[in-house]
This record gives sequence, C-alpha cells and structure tokens, in this order.
Amino acid sequence: MDMEKNRTILVLNGPNLQLLGKREVSIYGVETLDDIADKMRSHAASLWSDAELVFFQSCVEGELVKRIGDVVLERNIDGIIFNPGAYSHYSIAILDALKALGGKVPVIEVHLSNVHSREDFRKNLVTTQGASGVIAGFGSNSYLLALDALAHIFKKQTNL
Ligand code: DQA
Repeated sequence: MDMEKNRTILVLNGPNLQLLGKREVSIYGVETLDDIADKMRSHAASLWSDAELVFFQSCVEGELVKRIGDVVLERNIDGIIFNPGAYSHYSIAILDALKALGGKVPVIEVHLSNVHSREDFRKNLVTTQGASGVIAGFGSNSYLLALDALAHIFKKQTNL
C-alpha cells in the first residue's frame, strides 16, 4: 500500500455512460455508473491509505474539455481515469486538452468493451494518443485495472 502521499484521482466519464445498466447490457453490462464508483472506492482503499476519487460525467464534449483544463490550471489532481465514450474515436478537442496536461498527470483511458473487436470505426482511438495507456475489454473491471495502473505509475514516481 502506498502510504507516501494522499492521492486525488479524477474519474471522468463521457457521453451515454450515465445510462450504464440500461444501455446495451449485453455489451456494457448491468452495473450502473454508481455501482462502478462504489467498486472503485473500495478498490482504491485497498491500494492507498488515503485516496480521494472525484467523479465527473458529461455528455457534452466542451464540459469534458473544460474539466481537463481545470486540472491543468488548478494542479490538484494526481491521476485521471477516463472513459471518453464515443468521443474517443474522434475528439481532437479532448486530445488537445489531454496534451495540455503535458504528461504531468497520468491519464488511463478505459473502455468497458474491447473496442478492437467491434466495428471498424471503434478501432480508431484519437484521445488515447494523449493518454499514458489504455485498458479495454474487461467490463467494469477496466476501471479497477486503471486504478492498479495508476498505483504502478505513482510508485515509480516516488522511486525516482
Ligand atoms: C466505450 C466504447 C465506445 O466505442 C462507445 O462509444 C462507448 C463506450 C466503452 O466503454 O466500451 O460509449 O467507451
């Protein structure tokens, strides 16, 4: 467990993810976004002694861009877990916002589904170019694996 520093992690979710549990359940599962948030909180408690998870969901591209920009300006977030939904496939505005972080805040992009085994247009991942890495295809566990990825990155940072 990382006892070094309190961590604040922003969990961003894009369009249609507020419908989880009701939306194409054969692809995205029956858990709601609140269920996933609960699972993330308890997994984070097993990784860090004092981590705070901040959740933000929006169906509006500009609101996601603005929320990432606030991280650049306020410097109060240690890591971002981000499911940009369909914006992953074409949003240059979100990619530019992620690039504005300048690599100072690790970003783990997540997808519940394996976007590479679906329609061709989902194989094109634009926002991923601004992320530290991407986890796709493990359902709600993609979000928990993203917490593990951040724990790994934070550990490397403290060992530098
Ligand atoms: C998704 C995959 C996207 O292609 C899709 O538009 C979504 C959800 C996922 O979590 O698997 O909205 O990001």
